[in-house]
Amino acid sequence: SWKMQDFAEEAIEAVRQKVGDDTVICGLSGGVDSAVVAALLHKAIGDQLVCIFVDNGLLRNHEREGVETMFRGHFKINLHVVDWSKQFLAKLKGVVDPQKKRKIIGGEFIEAFKSEACKIQNAKFLAQGTLYPDVIESGSKDGNLAANIKLHHNVGGLPEQLGFDLVEPLRDLFKDEVRKLGEILGLPEDMVWRHPFPGPGLAVRVLGEVTEEKLRVVRDADEILINEIKAAGLYRKVSQTLAVLVPVETVGVMGDERTYENVIAVRSVDTTDFMTADFSRIPYETLSLISSRIINEVRGVNRVVYDISSKPPSTIEWE
Ligand code: XMP
Repeated sequence: SWKMQDFAEEAIEAVRQKVGDDTVICGLSGGVDSAVVAALLHKAIGDQLVCIFVDNGLLRNHEREGVETMFRGHFKINLHVVDWSKQFLAKLKGVVDPQKKRKIIGGEFIEAFKSEACKIQNAKFLAQGTLYPDVIESGSKDGNLAANIKLHHNVGGLPEQLGFDLVEPLRDLFKDEVRKLGEILGLPEDMVWRHPFPGPGLAVRVLGEVTEEKLRVVRDADEILINEIKAAGLYRKVSQTLAVLVPVETVGVMGDERTYENVIAVRSVDTTDFMTADFSRIPYETLSLISSRIINEVRGVNRVVYDISSKPPSTIEWE
C-alpha cells in the first residue's frame, strides 16, 4: 500500500537523521517485529547496524540457522550469534516454577546480550521492535502476561544498563501494519506471517523442570505440528499454534508391551489481541495426522491431546 510505502521512506529518513555516523545494535529474537526493525535499519544505515541473536538453547528446530541464513546470508547484515545455551540450561536446572523460569531467562538474556554488546565499538543506539500496543500497555501493571509480552524480547532495563539511546521505528504501528511493512522491506512471507513465540521459548512449553531430553521431545513435536498446520493451509488462518510437553506418564501399547510415556498437548488459538482467544476449529483429519505423526515419530510420546479451552479463563500458554 502507498501509505505504508510512505511510512517506510519516512521512517528510514528519520533513522538516518537520528543515528548520524554512529553504530546501532539490534537484538533479533527470530520474530516478526525485530526482523522488521533490522530490515528497516539496514536499509537506512547499512553497515552501521550490528544485530545480536542470543541462542538460549530454548529455541525451536532450525530457528537459529533460519536467522543466520536470512540476515547474514540474504540481507548481508552484520550478525553476531551468542551461544549462551549452556548457561541458560545450567541456571534452569531444578527450577519448576514458571515465573522463576521467566525471571532466570530474562536475567540470563541480559548477561548474554551485554557480553556481546560491550564488544561492539562506537555503539550508541539500541533498536527495539516496540509496537503501539506495547506503548499503551506498558503502563498497566495488572500482572497479565499478555501485557508484558515484550518483557523478554525487549528486556526492560537493558538500554539503561548499557547506556544506549533507543531507536524504536515501529512505535506507531499495529501488528498488521508491521507485517505490511515487512513485506515492503522484502522479508520472506515465512517471516512476515510468523506466529508469536514467547521470549522464554520452549522453557514454558516443557511444564516443570526443563531438561535437554524434554526440550528434544517438545522441539520435535513442535516441528511436526507447525509443518502439518502449514500443509493443511491453516497457518495464516490461526493466530498461534503450539505443542506442550505434559510431563505425566500415561499408559499405551506397543506390540505386546505396555508403555508409560509422556503426553503432548496441542494448542491452537484464534485471536486478534491475544488478551482473549478461542481454540481453533482444526479439522479432525488434520488433528489425526498431527497426532499419528507425533506419536510415531517422537520418541517418548504415546498420547496427544487437543486443548479446547478458551482464554479467559485459560491462558494461551500452559505456564
Ligand atoms: P498467555 O499465555 O498469557 O499468552 O495467554 C499471551 C501471549 O503472550 C505470549 N507469552 C509470552 N511472551 N514472554 C513473551 O515474550 C513471556 O513470558 C510470555 N508468556 C506468554 C504467548 O505466547 C501468547 O502469544
